Amino acid sequence: MGDLLDKHIVLGISGGIACYKSADLVRRLIEQGATVDVVMTDSACKFVTPVTFQALSGRPVYTDLWDNRAPNNMVHINLTRQADLVLIAPATANLMAKLAQGLADDLLTTLCLASTKPLMIAPAMNREMWQAPSTQRNVSQLRTDGVQILGPGTGEQACGETGDGRMLEPHELVAAVRAHFQPKTMKGLSVLLTAGPTCEPIDPVRVITNRSSGKTGYALAQAAHEAGAQVTLVSGPTGLPCPPGVTRISVQTAQQMHQAVMQHASTSDIFIAVAAVADWRVANASTEKLKKTDGQPPKLEFAINPDILKDVAGMANGPWCVGFAAETTLDPEQAQAKRQRKAVPLLIANLAQQVMDADHTTIHLVDDTGMTAMGTGHKLDIARKLMSEIYKRYRQHQA
Ligand code: C5P
Repeated sequence: MGDLLDKHIVLGISGGIACYKSADLVRRLIEQGATVDVVMTDSACKFVTPVTFQALSGRPVYTDLWDNRAPNNMVHINLTRQADLVLIAPATANLMAKLAQGLADDLLTTLCLASTKPLMIAPAMNREMWQAPSTQRNVSQLRTDGVQILGPGTGEQACGETGDGRMLEPHELVAAVRAHFQPKTMKGLSVLLTAGPTCEPIDPVRVITNRSSGKTGYALAQAAHEAGAQVTLVSGPTGLPCPPGVTRISVQTAQQMHQAVMQHASTSDIFIAVAAVADWRVANASTEKLKKTDGQPPKLEFAINPDILKDVAGMANGPWCVGFAAETTLDPEQAQAKRQRKAVPLLIANLAQQVMDADHTTIHLVDDTGMTAMGTGHKLDIARKLMSEIYKRYRQHQA
């Protein structure tokens, strides 16, 4: 069971083709431990039948304001009384217009009007409908009213067009719901992270890089966002989607990463250097593709890249810094020496061969008291634990 244990969610479904994805959404919410009451509009029932959602949620599905299964016949009041969150996915342009105006002409809109519970909506519509001035007016009104708008995503649409208006994928919606329920201990803080590898060009088609999936850095960025921080993630090339709510700056080389970090470091409270930065770059990189001349390898010359972490840690009034060290052997003395060399209060040590590309990790905390194991787990679970350790230490340092 996951993060949504004991959480009661009313899932509103309005009539868009993205309805079919809501079936997967229900399954994923339940997998996380949530209880899900599904409410469907008439149009939603044209796309997918209530039976699908009843089977997946294991609970009755509500479609009618006049539902006499409720002894008091006030299903619009009863449903949200016991809920922790109302999520509408998909939310059509019409539904959003009704919510923005406070209309209540069916069960879903009436229960929203009668509810004081947090409301999240995931718009889904054709790109022209999304861009229509009236829709944009409604979106901004809903934001002002405290509604959290999730997405929309961009890409190919069911109508054959491409653009903004796709409903976020079920896993992204679940991530947003999980984030909503995390304690917001880091609200008001700004966290800067590096993640992924850097790529140092040899010529326009060849690079020197480090093995790094970016998963740990991305999980930490997500954990910081979930804890309420404002998060900037300076990322080398990875295939990972940016965690919702995080600002990502994409870079290729160590020098670009250094520059982006330095631009943001003085306004950050915490800096976490997770990236596997290339120690050297090719000083004589070619602007033309190198030819394979007579089977001779090219003569490459190297220059040392800036040490981003060391530079940030050395700033007067800079952020509180955390470093990472992926080594092939875990030696407490070497880890301690590295922490001191980098001049950071906290270094996270792990075994490179165990963590690279993996979804699980094992980490050790190295500080001025020595090295302590923090356990093994899924990278996001470990990231959340680590983020609360980082926050605790940051607070102690501020006191
Ligand atoms: O020296 P080493 O690469 O082992 O140090 C690892 C730590 O230093 C990591 O936190 C990494 O992100 C950071 N680092 C950096 N810039 C470099 C090299 C490493 O920020 N050029």
